Amino acid sequence: MSCDKKKITLTVNGEERTITADPQSPLLDAIRDDMRESAVQLRCGQGRCGGCVVLLDGKRVLACDIAIARADKRSVTII
Ligand code: FES
Repeated sequence: MSCDKKKITLTVNGEERTITADPQSPLLDAIRDDMRESAVQLRCGQGRCGGCVVLLDGKRVLACDIAIARADKRSVTII
């Protein structure tokens, strides 16, 4: 598995953000660690509890269970 970092640009609650991250790392890590958005909860970290739900282009996703690369150039809404 590659751990090369890549620039990822996404819009979070209407604000465009660019971070450098491992594209396979969870979206949740980027939201909490790189963007300092603590409203999204890390609970199980395994896609089972729903504590990390965000909207990705308006669709509900589990931020702990989706790679940051899938959010590149897309809109994330923290609910
Ligand atoms: S932290 Fe439980 S589903 Fe993401």
